[in-house]
Amino acid sequence: MIKDFTFALIKPNAVKHKKTGPILAMINEAGFRIAAMKMIRLTEDQARSFYAVHRERPFFDELISFMASGPVVALILGHEDAVEQFRELIGSTDPLEAEEGTIRKIFATSVQMNAIHGSDSKENAVKEAAFFFSEFERCNE
Ligand code: RTP
Ligand code: MG
Repeated sequence: MIKDFTFALIKPNAVKHKKTGPILAMINEAGFRIAAMKMIRLTEDQARSFYAVHRERPFFDELISFMASGPVVALILGHEDAVEQFRELIGSTDPLEAEEGTIRKIFATSVQMNAIHGSDSKENAVKEAAFFFSEFERCNE
């Protein structure tokens, strides 16, 4: 298994507006290696499990219907310091606060529809990757 990786999810707004290709190009150009990739549509129950840490937040129900509103692209990405480096590449949660040149600055349309998710810790990257991918679906070379 690759040692240093993060988990990413291109969100429904970005997929719907044909931004998957441009976002993957930025990920490649930043030096991340795609170790697993698939497009799926989450059920609301799956979205609830994925974002369970936010279940008490006021935006939870809206977040769940958004995440289940259309296909998403799930990725396992290899890089040195993958979690931290990828959070830098995507930028702040709110696109108004995101740094110039980050994925969210370029592709987010609101704080909710912010184009992409990136794991916030190594531990969560392991859990989130396992939620979406079996060992058989990961390319480790
Ligand atoms: P993510 O988990 O998606 O990578 O985003 P994040 O760490 O930058 O932000 P987090 O606090 O984990 O929030 C998860 C997602 O919930 C939506 N959100 N909406 N309406 C709001 O105020 C609000 N706040 C957060 C966003 O889609 C955010 O990415
Ligand atoms: Mg988060």
